[in-house]
Amino acid sequence: MTNKTITKRFYLTTPLYYVNSRPHIGHSYTNIAADTLARFMRLRYGKDHVHFLTGTDEHGQKIDKAAQAAGMAPQEFVDKISATFKDLWTKLDISYDDFIRTTEPRHVKAVQAVWKELEKRGRVYKAGYSGWYCTPDETFWTEGQVFQENGKNLCPECKRPVERIEEENYFLKMSDKQEWLIRTIREAKDLVILPETRRNEVLGFLENNVLQDLCISRPKNRLLWGIPSPLSDAHVTYVWFDALINYISAVGYGVDEKLQKKWWPADVHIIGKDILRHHAVYWPILLEALGLPTPKMIFAHGWWVQGGEKMSKSRGNVVDPLEIVDRFGVDAYRYFLLREASFGQDGTFSEEAFILRYNTDLANDLGNLLNRTLTMCEKYFEGEIPAFNPEKMQKLSYDEANPDEIAKLIFKNRATLEAMASNLPDKILELMRRLAFSEVLAEVWAIVSEANKYIERSAPWALAKQGKFEELRCVINTLAGVLKVTARAVWPFMPTIGKEIWTQLGMKESIEKNIFIKGSVDEYFLTGGVVSKAAPLFPRIESKKGDLT
Ligand code: MSP
Repeated sequence: MTNKTITKRFYLTTPLYYVNSRPHIGHSYTNIAADTLARFMRLRYGKDHVHFLTGTDEHGQKIDKAAQAAGMAPQEFVDKISATFKDLWTKLDISYDDFIRTTEPRHVKAVQAVWKELEKRGRVYKAGYSGWYCTPDETFWTEGQVFQENGKNLCPECKRPVERIEEENYFLKMSDKQEWLIRTIREAKDLVILPETRRNEVLGFLENNVLQDLCISRPKNRLLWGIPSPLSDAHVTYVWFDALINYISAVGYGVDEKLQKKWWPADVHIIGKDILRHHAVYWPILLEALGLPTPKMIFAHGWWVQGGEKMSKSRGNVVDPLEIVDRFGVDAYRYFLLREASFGQDGTFSEEAFILRYNTDLANDLGNLLNRTLTMCEKYFEGEIPAFNPEKMQKLSYDEANPDEIAKLIFKNRATLEAMASNLPDKILELMRRLAFSEVLAEVWAIVSEANKYIERSAPWALAKQGKFEELRCVINTLAGVLKVTARAVWPFMPTIGKEIWTQLGMKESIEKNIFIKGSVDEYFLTGGVVSKAAPLFPRIESKKGDLT
């Protein structure tokens, strides 16, 4: 998404979620971010030019164990949990174009085609493996990587016990591609890793370690729940190797070359920082080994933490998205996650922080601005936004014989707001190139709060009393202009609320139109229109402590 990589089609992905347990905030975060980006890109490129992929990761030891614990057959178990993810995405307005499950035949076929292609290219071999395995992370570790505590061997990543493994496995050659990968990441031309700190982390890892070849299989006598290897009856595919391939299997790898060419390489893989190495090291090398281009960008976001620790089921500190959505609404939830933490940094989730943002940003700033504007249209202009004639205001403000200082100020402040609104699309465009969601929202709220100040400074109720209707027109038309631009700018973040504001302002055309073209919002500051009666968007919440977790 740097200038160079902008094309007229956009393919974005989320990780595939493990179906060992129900989705929590962390999972919903990636999908809300991806959905916002997808909506934003559809406005720019058109619906058919954006492909948004998500799905579920359904193989491996961890899921096999979870199915056993639930007393269910693995397939029955994954069907059930995968559906809970789909339901949540519907509830959260996630507009994915495709949902891939790694147990689907189209994926299984592609994974097997990859195995064969790698063999043909001499990139895989069989050898004895001895080392450690972390089931929660589904990751292999070497002797030197694990650490000891109280006589136990622990995973360097998640600090949970690892198990000793000795078995015959298949390996993907890695080390001969190490220099190529370092170069590619350093150049940041074909493969951009963001944020910068994550890029440095990957480079640091690559420059200080000799890459071990990647184990890509598990013996069937230890694990049946995997995709059978086409090279050996005794092996299934290692879950990470299987899962990464989804990004190409979903766009036709091995079956539909035209489709694959249409979408691959992906424009961005959005992931959490804990799975950076799999995406930024193993995946590009696997693609290179297949003769395919790397993704153009990998963006690793931070974690939602609670009590100082990453939210996760095993730590027992998860917050259920559905509970929050039921209490506060989908759009407030989407807004909070994308506004509270800068994308790339960790965020702390608490009920207090949520309610504070809700009441301040949504109920007070945005909700009140709309409410006051609509009420004034109702009260002073019979339910219409007054159309605006700049010439009349110009004359009033600069009439030398009878200078009207109030009119002048109102006209000047309008110009400030108009300029802010007119520059907003460019600012958003720039920020969205680096997925700076929180900063985009901060820019929108800067105008919203300026508009609220405009009301205070212009005192429209006094203008009405004094019969200064030209000035009153100017103020209300300006406020409506700001709100129209705001509705469109927040729509990718809050689709329901964006639309609601838009229709309350009496706008008939679709909200889904490209505003990222210079001058495209200027007309909103001239035209009038019939508005709806004010209805509160965000009823204020009285804080009740401690019932979110
Ligand atoms: N199945 C693998 C990904 C395979 S992608 C080819 C996996 N699944 S996961 O369900 O464990 O995690 C999926 C994503 O959710 C990761 O990007 C992870 O960072 C994210 N989150 C899980 N908990 C999180 C938080 N508490 N906060 C933010 N995101 C976190 O890994």
